[in-house]
Amino acid sequence: MQKTVDFINKQIKDFKPEIGIVLGSGLGDLADEFCEITIPYSKIPGFPTSTVQGHKGQLVFATINGKKVMMMQGRFHYYEGHPMDVVTFPIKIMKKLGIKTVILTNAAGGVNVYFKPSDLMLITDHINFMGDNPLIGPNDDTLGTRFPDMSEVYTKDLQELAKTCAKKLGIALQEGVYMALTGPTYETPAEVKMVRLLGADAVGMSTVPEAIVASYCKMDVLGLSCICNSAAGISTVGLSHEEVLQAANAAKSKFKNLVLEVIKEI
Ligand code: HPA
Repeated sequence: MQKTVDFINKQIKDFKPEIGIVLGSGLGDLADEFCEITIPYSKIPGFPTSTVQGHKGQLVFATINGKKVMMMQGRFHYYEGHPMDVVTFPIKIMKKLGIKTVILTNAAGGVNVYFKPSDLMLITDHINFMGDNPLIGPNDDTLGTRFPDMSEVYTKDLQELAKTCAKKLGIALQEGVYMALTGPTYETPAEVKMVRLLGADAVGMSTVPEAIVASYCKMDVLGLSCICNSAAGISTVGLSHEEVLQAANAAKSKFKNLVLEVIKEI
């Protein structure tokens, strides 16, 4: 970890990031628009390379609305075969770089029947249904405690801030619980019914491991989902890939505007 931190610090010199953002599907553009320093994951000692096509796989540093921001353009997923400590390694690096606030974004399936494709959802809480936990193994006492409290993973103040920003911008913001399954399969209709019965509003394959580690490291966390589709079995018509892409595209600009406003107000 120290090697990774030293390498990044050497590249970014006196740029001291305060906010870390993990850009999910459809939000990667933000890093193209605001970009001062770029470091490909393949150049960073200790960093794995992302195997997901279409993910750039780089750290992007930029000053956005007066804040020093580090963006991950592409994340590491459990379904790619990375162990949990690899999936969450960048979050620990953010902590070591002095980052105080982490914004986690993702594309998700809508499980709440009132959600429509291209809705945005503020994550109020999560359910870890991945059958694994990133904190299993010896505890690193320099980062957090052995049995970390998870009663407020998603910082209340940041939730309020996101709601205020959305209102100001006239963006409808749903709220709900995000459940993470490993993927890479999408859920069956029966699984989606289970997810809803267990109390989740959206389902996806990321974010929860990173949120657990960020909370454990005592960083403030904001989670935002772009509801790309109604999860299997909710819609009467079958899931079409085109529809999903269209929804992601339609949500892109409001998603970006909301994140930019939140950054400004943090
Ligand atoms: N399920 C899980 N992950 C997803 C979905 C979904 O329906 N849509 C986008 N990511």
